[in-house]
Amino acid sequence: RKNGLQVAIDGPASAGKSTVAKLVAKQFHYVYCDTGAMYRAITLKAIRTGVSFDDLAGIAKIVKSSKMTFEPSDDGQKVFIDGKEITEAIRQEDVTNSVSAVAAIGEVRKQLSAQQQEIAKDGGIVMDGRDIGTSVLPDAEVKIFLIASVEERAQRRYKENIQKGINTPLDELQMEIEARDYKDSHRKISPLTKAADAVEIDTTSLSIDQVVEKIANVINKTLK
Ligand code: CDP
Ligand code: CDP
Repeated sequence: RKNGLQVAIDGPASAGKSTVAKLVAKQFHYVYCDTGAMYRAITLKAIRTGVSFDDLAGIAKIVKSSKMTFEPSDDGQKVFIDGKEITEAIRQEDVTNSVSAVAAIGEVRKQLSAQQQEIAKDGGIVMDGRDIGTSVLPDAEVKIFLIASVEERAQRRYKENIQKGINTPLDELQMEIEARDYKDSHRKISPLTKAADAVEIDTTSLSIDQVVEKIANVINKTLK
């Protein structure tokens, strides 16, 4: 491809996808694309405009009429919808807890997948999500599936929250993560699942740098 490889990184919530994807992209001078941010942006807009998640026509209208844009920043990317910055707002708890319902809607997946394919078509991209290796970029040269125990993932989110001054109990976070993983793995359209040709990395007892190194090794082997 013109700009390099397509690197697909999938896995359950808080496995470390976005953290390592950003660092891998930096190392190879690739573009980083967080597809979860796109599903979150649609969810936020539905909440803000009072469109119910079971109003399929209403949600479809939001996807078709919204202009989503991304800008690289020091710590990843800034996200905008209709010109308004929503980088922080899409991480709010209410969005996190509703996003899987919106992501299960066929029309939403169809539109966002098409946008993601357009962004990735020339390669030189690290894209993270749930269905990148299986559905969005089935021909990606590198496919990684990141996992970690649910206890470890809840701990990671807990520490992240504490830094932001949010104090949600650990067991509540673990339940939230389990509920979201269940919905993401059991939806009808492009559920979360490991692609047959993906390299699985269990990050439970690995540092961020160790995970980045493992992925960089896979990329370098592919480039040779
Ligand atoms: O919280 P975390 O960073 O793990 O999630 P995210 O990557 O921001 O994704 C938020 C939600 O968007 C997921 O729980 C899925 O419901 C949905 N999603 C999806 O369905 N397909 C993708 N390719 C990416 C995200
Ligand atoms: O994108 P995803 O939801 O898969 O996870 P994330 O938001 O990138 O990572 C969740 C947290 O785990 C972050 O605070 C990371 O610093 C931490 N972490 C990690 O990503 N990888 C490790 N090997 C260890 C910790």
